[in-house]
Amino acid sequence: MSQNIESHLVENRVIKPTREFSKHARIGSMADYRRIHAASVRNPAKFWAGEASELVWGRKWKSVLKWKAPFARWFDGGTVNVAENCVDRHARGDRRNKAAIIWEGEPGEKRTLTYGQLQREVCLFANVLKRNKVKKGDRVIIYMPLIPEAAVAMLACARIGAVHSVIFGGFSADSIRDRIADSGATCVITADGGYRRGSIVPLKHNVDAALTGDTTVKRVIVFRRANNEIHIEEGRDVWWHRELDYVTADCPVVHHDSEHPLFILYTSGSTGKPKGILHTTGGYLAQAYATTKYIFDLRENDIYWCTADVGWITGHTYLVYGPLANGATCMMYEGAPNWPDPDRFWRIIQNYGVTVFYTAPTAIRAFIKWGDEWVDKHDLSSLRLLGTVGEPINPEAWMWYHRKIGGGRCPIVDTWWQTETGAIMISPLPGATPVKPGTATLPFFGIDAAIVDDNGKEVGPNVGGKLVIRKPWPSMLRTIYGDRARYKKTYWSEFPGYYLTGDGARRDKDGYFWIVGRIDDVLNVAGHRLGTSEIESALVSHHSVAEAAVVGRPDEIKGQGVVAFVTLREGEKPTAELREKLRRHVGAAIGAIAKPDDIHFAEALPKTRSGKIMRRLLKEIAGGGDVKGDTTTLEDFSILSKLKLRDA
Ligand code: WTA
Repeated sequence: MSQNIESHLVENRVIKPTREFSKHARIGSMADYRRIHAASVRNPAKFWAGEASELVWGRKWKSVLKWKAPFARWFDGGTVNVAENCVDRHARGDRRNKAAIIWEGEPGEKRTLTYGQLQREVCLFANVLKRNKVKKGDRVIIYMPLIPEAAVAMLACARIGAVHSVIFGGFSADSIRDRIADSGATCVITADGGYRRGSIVPLKHNVDAALTGDTTVKRVIVFRRANNEIHIEEGRDVWWHRELDYVTADCPVVHHDSEHPLFILYTSGSTGKPKGILHTTGGYLAQAYATTKYIFDLRENDIYWCTADVGWITGHTYLVYGPLANGATCMMYEGAPNWPDPDRFWRIIQNYGVTVFYTAPTAIRAFIKWGDEWVDKHDLSSLRLLGTVGEPINPEAWMWYHRKIGGGRCPIVDTWWQTETGAIMISPLPGATPVKPGTATLPFFGIDAAIVDDNGKEVGPNVGGKLVIRKPWPSMLRTIYGDRARYKKTYWSEFPGYYLTGDGARRDKDGYFWIVGRIDDVLNVAGHRLGTSEIESALVSHHSVAEAAVVGRPDEIKGQGVVAFVTLREGEKPTAELREKLRRHVGAAIGAIAKPDDIHFAEALPKTRSGKIMRRLLKEIAGGGDVKGDTTTLEDFSILSKLKLRDA
C-alpha cells in the first residue's frame, strides 16, 4: 500500500475569462481547448509538426519524434537556425522597424533595438565569436548583466551553433569555475560590471577569480557597461567594442541539425553538484514558440515584459527565445524591483505601456509586503494579461495580483514548468480556462501530465501523489551534460517511461493540477503526509502575514513536527498572541493536523537567487542544527544568522 500526500485546503473561487478577452483570443473556449488537447495527446507528433511548420527550416525533418526511452530526437533530419527564426525572418519582413527589445538600465538609461538593428548586432557579434575562434559545438559561458547584449550574445552563439551556458550575474567566482569545468567552455562573454541596487556588481573581477589555475578558457570578451576599473589579461581578454572594428555584419545563416545542442543551463537541485541541463535546437524552439503564442496570446502591438533574468530558464524561454520567435516587442529591465523605490516596476509599466507582465510569486509577495501605496501611484491600465512562474502562488497573493495589478480585468496565467521541461507544461489559456487562485490548471497541448502513487498508478480526484509526464515533449531536456546515467536515474528510473518532475500534486474534480510542493519537502505528521504549500498558503491568507515557509523537524511522538517561518507585513508586530492566532488560523483553514508546532518570526526567508524559498536550509535550522548543506545559491547570507538568533 502506498501512502498518498493529503490535501485539505479548499479553494472555491472561480474566475472566468471576460467575454471581451475570449472573443479576441486564439483559443476562446474550453470546448476548443478540450478538443485540441485531446487530439494533441492522441497524436502529439501531428500537433507539434503543425507548430514547427510555422518556423523557418533549412531542411524539413524526416520524422517528428524518435523515442527510445528516455532519449528523444525531435524533428530528426531537419535543420534549423534559432537566430534566423528569432531575428532574421522578422527583420526580412514587415517587422523590420518594429521594436524587438526595449531596455531600461537600473540607473535609468533607455535603449530600443528594432528587429533590423538586432539582426545587425547579432551578425556582428557572431562574426566576433568566429574571429575569436569560437566554433560550432564549442561551449561559451555568458556572465552578463541584464542588458540587450546578453540576448545578442545568446543569439550569436545560436547563430553559429556554439552552445551557450548563461550564468546568473549574481553567482560567485566558485560557481563560474565549477560550470566552466563541467562544460569545458573555451570562451567567456562578460561585462566590466552591472548595476544592482545602486552598486556595481564586479562581473569581470569574478571571472578573473574563476580563471586562476588550470582552465579550458582561452578567450574572454568584455562588454563595457559600468565603466568600473578592470584588469585586462593580455592575450586572453578582448573588449567587445574594439572587436567590432574588425568585423562586418555579413554573417549568412547556417542551418544546424534539429538535435544540435542549443544551450546548457545549470540548475542546483536540492543536493549535490549542479546539473547541466542540456537543451537542443528544433524541439526547444517549437515549444518555446507555441507556448508563448497561445499562453500569452500575443498581439502584434503588445509590449511584453518577463521580469526574469537571462540566467534562469524563464529568461531563456520567455524573455528571449519564445517572444522573439513570435516577433514580439520585449521589455527588458536591468535592475532590482525596489530601486530606487519599491515602485520601479509599476513606473516601467506606466511609462512604456506594458501590456503583458510575467513575474514570480516571490516578487508578488514582496510587493504586497512593501504596501499598496507604491502601486497606487501609477496608471497600470495598459496591462491586459498577467502571468506567474516559479513556485505555487498562494491564493491570497493571487487575489492581490488580480485586483491590485490587474485591476480585476486581466486574466492570470499561472504557468507550471521546470528548467528541465524547457517550456511551459501546465497553464491556463487566458481566453478559455476558468481559473482558480493557486492552481496552474490544465496541461498545455501535447502534454500528457498525470499524478501517480508510489506504484506508478494514476490516482483519483483530490488524492495527492507524484506529478509525472507520460509522453516525451519537444522542449524536454535531452540529458544532463556529460552524465547520461544521472539523467536516467534522476528523471526516468522511478516509473519506467514516465518523466518524474519531483513535485507533489493533486488534481481536483475538474482535473486541475495543484502543486503541493517538492516531494523532498513533504512532511509526515502522525502518519499524514502533508505538502508544504497548503500550510504556507493558509498562513499567507492571514492579513498580518507576508510570506511563510513550512518545514518538518523530528518529533518523537508525531514523527515530524510542523515548523513555520513567517515574515510579517510592514507595520505588523511579532507577538506571542499573533503566534497563537496564526496556529488557530491554520487549524481552521486546513485542520488540527497542520497546526504549526513552532512559529518563528523572521525578517526575511532564505531564498535562491531566482526567488525560491530554500526549505532545505530551514529544515536544518528547525531541527536545531547548524546549516551544513550547500549554501552557494543563497541570495543573502546574513539571513541565516538572523534566523538562528531570533526567538528560537
Ligand atoms: C516550481 C522554473 C507551482 C516547481 C520555470 C518546479 C511551480 C520548479 C510553478 C522548477 C507553478 C514552477 N506552480 N510550482 N506555476 N512553476 N514551480 O527549474 O516545484 O527554476 O518543479 O523552473 O519550480 O523550477 P525551475
